[in-house]
Amino acid sequence: MNAMTTTTKETATGTATAAPVLEASGVTMRFGGLTAVREVDLTVREGEIVGLIGPNGAGKTTFFNCLTGLYVPTEGQVSYKGTVLPPKPHLVTQAGIARTFQNIRLFSNMTVLENVLVGRHTRTKEGLWSALLRGPGFKKAEAASRERAMELLEFVGLASKAEHLARNLPYGEQRKLEIARALASDPGLLLLDEPTAGMNQSETRTTEELVFAIRDRGIAVLVIEHDMKFIFKLCDRVAVLVQGEKLVEGTSEVVQGDERVVAAYLGTPYEGAPGAEEAAEVEAAEAHAAAATTAPEDDAEAGEDTAPEDTAPSDDTPAAGTGKASGADSTTEGDSK
Ligand SMILES: Nc1ncnc2c1ncn2[C@@H]1O[C@H](COP(=O)(O)OP(=O)(O)OP(=O)(O)O)[C@@H](O)[C@H]1O
Ligand SMILES: [Mg+2]
Repeated sequence: MNAMTTTTKETATGTATAAPVLEASGVTMRFGGLTAVREVDLTVREGEIVGLIGPNGAGKTTFFNCLTGLYVPTEGQVSYKGTVLPPKPHLVTQAGIARTFQNIRLFSNMTVLENVLVGRHTRTKEGLWSALLRGPGFKKAEAASRERAMELLEFVGLASKAEHLARNLPYGEQRKLEIARALASDPGLLLLDEPTAGMNQSETRTTEELVFAIRDRGIAVLVIEHDMKFIFKLCDRVAVLVQGEKLVEGTSEVVQGDERVVAAYLGTPYEGAPGAEEAAEVEAAEAHAAAATTAPEDDAEAGEDTAPEDTAPSDDTPAAGTGKASGADSTTEGDSK
């Protein structure tokens, strides 16, 4: 397409010319005096995994809520496969957009399988209440639905826990169950809001594979994450939201190399940014103060170590896997709301 910021990956995979699945244009969301999202345009095409990143409070979840009809945007519109979506969650789901939530939303006293079956109700004639009450109409459709739900549980790796209560699953598995439930509505686009929050490294890796597998099933993915390793590994394209506005959009390489993105994450204002001068003064003063205090403490710590030669080498080993984005990873911790 146009030659702006992008894109070796897109050209390679051909997604630059693929049809748009999601088109958000000029989406603005105001809460009283606060503009949480400001005139955001974003397109997700068939076959793409697109990342949405930005510091805490940047407006990422609010943007998702605008896309899925949970909020009615103050301005702008959202289209799915060329049709403008009415801002009603069930109609958005019916159209083909499914999502998971930053704060997991499961029916905790229902089984794993039942949670997926509930996710399926938009695609069955019987509807939610029939599914829950198991009326006669439901019984007929039940076998097919169960089969599909089990297939999805297999897909996310939870088939062996189908009869467990959702609340008894470890946190990481609850996130996977949310994905299975979202997939049960047969979406063409899946929105993931921090799918690896609270996961350990191996769970995160499995989730990476899962997202690739979802894309390979023909479902486009838009994913919010604070884990930059996850984002840059997965995404064909990444959009950066800062204070409600889209600051940068491009490939992982473009975004990682953009000084404004680094500044937004590390809190270092870039040249010309509001408050940059004051921040530079504060930083200089802090550096001064730090230089005056560090040396003596180091000596004291070394003195306590009985075998310094044993521990020293590991400090010099480059930290495998902790790349350029390790500073950004730390924002995940401030995430508990
Ligand atoms: N319903 C609401 N009413 C008022 N303000 C809101 C509402 N929802 C979100 N906000 C505000 O909008 C801003 C953006 O919040 P949002 O949750 O979208 O950020 P985020 O980028 O998802 O952050 P995080 O990474 O912490 O999840 C915040 O200042 C938040 O307080
Ligand atoms: Mg959020």
